[in-house]
Amino acid sequence: MSELVSVTRDGDVGVVTINNPPVNALSQAVLRGVRAALDDLTKDPAVRAVVLTGGGRLFCGGADITEFGEMAAGRKTINEFPLLLDALDASPKPVVCAIHGTAFGGGLETAMACHHRVAAPGSLVGQPEVKLGLIPGAGGTQRLPRLAGLAKAAEMCAGGEPVGAADALAAGILDKVIDGDLVAGAVAFAREVAAKGGPPRRTRDLADKLGNSTMNAMVLAGARDLVRKKARGMLAPMKAVDAVEAAATLPFDDGIRREAELFRECLLSPQSRALIHVFFAEREVSKVPGVGKDTPRIPIKRAAVVGAGTMGGGIAMTYANAGIPVLLKEADQPALDRGLATIRKNYAATVQKGRLTQQQADERLARIEPTLTYDRFREADIVVEAVFEGMALKKQVFAELDQVTRPDAVLASNTSTLDVDEIASATTRPDRVIGHHFFSPANVMKLLEVVRGKKTGADVIATSMDLAKRLGKVGVLVGNCRAFVGNRMFDPYVREANFLVEEGAAIEAVDAALTGFGMAMGPLAVVDLAGLDVGWRIRNEHRHLEPPGRKAYRAEDRLCEMGHFGQKTGAGWYRYEAGSRTPLPNPEAARLAEEAAREGGITRRAVTADEIVERTVYALVNEGARILEEGIALRAGDIDIVYVYGYGFPAFRGGPMWYAGTVGLKAVYDRVCAFEREHGPLWAPAPLLKRLAETGKTFADYDKEREAKP
Ligand code: NAI
Repeated sequence: MSELVSVTRDGDVGVVTINNPPVNALSQAVLRGVRAALDDLTKDPAVRAVVLTGGGRLFCGGADITEFGEMAAGRKTINEFPLLLDALDASPKPVVCAIHGTAFGGGLETAMACHHRVAAPGSLVGQPEVKLGLIPGAGGTQRLPRLAGLAKAAEMCAGGEPVGAADALAAGILDKVIDGDLVAGAVAFAREVAAKGGPPRRTRDLADKLGNSTMNAMVLAGARDLVRKKARGMLAPMKAVDAVEAAATLPFDDGIRREAELFRECLLSPQSRALIHVFFAEREVSKVPGVGKDTPRIPIKRAAVVGAGTMGGGIAMTYANAGIPVLLKEADQPALDRGLATIRKNYAATVQKGRLTQQQADERLARIEPTLTYDRFREADIVVEAVFEGMALKKQVFAELDQVTRPDAVLASNTSTLDVDEIASATTRPDRVIGHHFFSPANVMKLLEVVRGKKTGADVIATSMDLAKRLGKVGVLVGNCRAFVGNRMFDPYVREANFLVEEGAAIEAVDAALTGFGMAMGPLAVVDLAGLDVGWRIRNEHRHLEPPGRKAYRAEDRLCEMGHFGQKTGAGWYRYEAGSRTPLPNPEAARLAEEAAREGGITRRAVTADEIVERTVYALVNEGARILEEGIALRAGDIDIVYVYGYGFPAFRGGPMWYAGTVGLKAVYDRVCAFEREHGPLWAPAPLLKRLAETGKTFADYDKEREAKP
């Protein structure tokens, strides 16, 4: 017996335990071990029933994800899973799966191939494969409909969200929820089942929940509509519904074969590779050279936020939501009242949506302590500054913080563009200063750019990366440069959207091309949401630094000069009716674009959706390549995570840098060179893009090569 799987006896019941920390992943060795254990126990006349469970904090988190990559690359054929599932089906003695923590993916599939399932309260079960661009490939789409019906199975397999034990019990996925000692309860349950005698109840033989064709047609049409709406452009959720349909239309073994075909289509799709890349890239971001397990962390028990505006309020909520008490300081009472009113309104909305109970919301609100003074700032282990974006003000605030906080406290700035080193220079402890660049709305958006200054201490970086996780964020370490990673790349992206409109593309067409590509929103709608004035102010501030004769777009400036700042003023690139966020066509903006073209001597022409995507997305890629080469981002994968979590870039395309690799860097580079010839030096190709294109490599290769170097 392997160490990964252990067997014990409780009288006439054999207990098989998977011990493959941290998540009891079903590697080939684990599957083989469980099958061998089952084989021994079914042969043993002293054993009447079997319990299958997991050691540690959960039953099973699913397959070993690295094996999917191996399978897709054709380096591995994996056949242990069907062998185990067949062995479970064939077992003459009842097998009861005892679930605690989670049974996800292959974990739930294994559980469903057992004859019965019991679970501890608070357990979660789910088929999250679609999140990796896959469908359940070990019978999940065939057994789940037999236990829970088509509607529930389609919802779980296509949506990927887990369900709790009570819900799973009601749905028929579980036979019993067991309070107290789970394994003892499972053993007692197994004994009862064995005492009843007769052949074990095989999930594959159940049919009463498979419905009739009229009902199923409605259920499946509804499921497909939902996928079209919620998983726009994604392959796997639709295939998951197809597979669930097969459960109702084909005999079990044919259904399994159909599932295998659909699984393979997904596995070999670029979408699955992209999503698996994102999965691993998200885990990589926390690896920082020079920062390790031994790097000391500063315990964060209390926080303080300066500025209760759009960002400060959201940041205070983020801390409160994570259970960390936070002081919230404003400049004057009216501003503080406004800030708190917004926070209250946000919590009330969450309660109304049913995502929080009133009591939970009250507890969170109580963790936010409003103040107009620095009086209790000595209690704070970290301060996040979120005052107006201006260097003089930021330096003044940091000089004050230097006086009023403990010398070991972390001083973080939420600046989106300013030089973190210059801000740090206002203190006597630049090693404690760091950028924590949250995204709006800060209590919702998952990205946190952690900006490392020249002197930022390793302990402050380590603390920030850990803290990001505690706050429910994905922290990405970036270097100190203007606008850091995300916004620095966003600038040329929006620039190209502007030029495209001036060259003749309709405003709506630019956004539609990019939402068609999979972006959560089009660039011009995003600018309307964030406020046109933000970019305008920055452009005006930096205009004197631009090389003379540099090509500039004009229509957006005109809109700003007219006071059209987007949603907040009721008009920008689009028009908005009072109180509505729905963008309506704005003929004024279209007219300004035509006028700008005339003034700029641009001949208006038809622009295709493909060109819109290439111009904007390759602008991201080209700037991303510079950022990577300058070392502002540690890895191309980090840039992908910034874009997927901060800018609504479709995860199924893997982020901009991964996407460029799927197009082929040579093709991207050739287009960038063509754009340079057509549109001038703004399109000068990044040297790294050129080099990789010429050597036939991708950014992922570049990451790997650098990781291999000591
Ligand atoms: P905001 O104008 O909504 O809020 C700033 C708040 O700071 C105001 O309520 C103001 O009264 C307060 N304040 C000014 N001086 C203060 C002082 N000495 N002490 C206490 N409070 C003071 O601005 P917003 O949008 O929240 O931006 C804050 C910072 O966050 C800026 O650095 C901005 O660049 C950055 N940021 C903004 C994002 C956004 O989408 N709005 C996104 C990411 C970062």
